[in-house]
Amino acid sequence: MNPFRYGQVVSKGDFCSRSLLLKQLVNFAESGQNVFLQGERRTGKTSLIHEAARKLSGYKLLYIDLLEVKTIDDLCRRMITSIVRAERRVSFQKKLLSTLAHLRPSLSIDPITGFPTVSFDSRIGMKPDTIEGILDLIAELGRKKKLVVTFDEFQDVLNLRESERALALLRSRIQFQTSITYFFAGSVRNQMNGIFTDPSSPFFKSAASLEVGSIDDAVFVPFLKKKFLSGKRSISTETVKAVIRMAGSIPGDVQELCACIWDVTSAGEPITEKQLPVGLKMIFARERKAYEATLVSIAGQQLRCLVALAGTDFVKPMSSEFLQKTGIRTTSSVQAALKRLVKLKIIYRHKGVYRLANPFFGSWLIWKGY
Ligand SMILES: Nc1ncnc2c1ncn2[C@@H]1O[C@H](COP(=O)(O)OP(=O)(O)OP(=O)(O)O)[C@@H](O)[C@H]1O
Ligand SMILES: [Mg+2]
Repeated sequence: MNPFRYGQVVSKGDFCSRSLLLKQLVNFAESGQNVFLQGERRTGKTSLIHEAARKLSGYKLLYIDLLEVKTIDDLCRRMITSIVRAERRVSFQKKLLSTLAHLRPSLSIDPITGFPTVSFDSRIGMKPDTIEGILDLIAELGRKKKLVVTFDEFQDVLNLRESERALALLRSRIQFQTSITYFFAGSVRNQMNGIFTDPSSPFFKSAASLEVGSIDDAVFVPFLKKKFLSGKRSISTETVKAVIRMAGSIPGDVQELCACIWDVTSAGEPITEKQLPVGLKMIFARERKAYEATLVSIAGQQLRCLVALAGTDFVKPMSSEFLQKTGIRTTSSVQAALKRLVKLKIIYRHKGVYRLANPFFGSWLIWKGY
């Protein structure tokens, strides 16, 4: 069986140790320090949080995923569902039903998954104030157990029409819940930063920041080599490092490329750099339609910038070298193109450097000769 896992939370043998980050996160939780974790997509934020929760003995994780949350109603439902799943004691469930009585809730067990679920009278819409009631329930739960509450993809709160009010309500209750630790994780860096570092934001300076980036080669290389060896495929350190580079050092993409390389090789076959493009082409074949759709959505100058960024690791996009590469005449046009690409989440900017969100898309552009 293919030993590489991607596109899902990893744990146990699939989780490559990140001891320093894990230690920091555990220490923060134990000292009651709220944390905001940020990193690009597929760097391992969610897996790290679950791993930290496992390490925190006696703690319960209340995990709330806010990915693509669009309405207050949706936000409240996600929070309540995670509470119901974290605490099944009848006395607490009674308390939950009475606190939210105005929403006419009813509890049941989902017949397919066996998970407790809660439903509400759909004619009664949840309002921002409902958030306060839900946070009071979390506080109540926190009196009985040590809690780590996680809001994942927290920046998506900004999608809500009443986002300012929602953030203010969340903050107003959370700041008094000093015995509960909150983790806020997010991948859209500029938005996450805005929430925690903009003086006008209710969450300004309310949490310590933790960066989740690539995994150190010193631990990731042996981890990946061991996985290849489990299927009798030997691979040198240099070749593994080349795989990591091809995948932009993004852990999820590295594992995906490794999974493809595994699929195109056989037991007993040593893996050399020659097989890497074969694995890469397997990813191209799977993602081609998405790549083509992206191309349709962007203009010519944006494409020129993308291709220029794909070919280099670090570039100064306002330099004459970059202009020459793109064939664009003015820096203002480059700026406008990059801004648009960031908005479309095709590229991102970190520490002054622009990178493609999907490194394989960049390799595909080069392979196709754009
Ligand atoms: N510690 C790790 N060891 C090995 N692989 C990892 C590790 N963390 C993450 N990965 C790889 O990255 C993938 C994505 O992990 P995870 O969902 O935790 O990341 P994320 O940053 O939360 O991603 P997203 O932004 O999509 O929510 C995993 O399926 C796995 O392939
Ligand atoms: Mg995640």
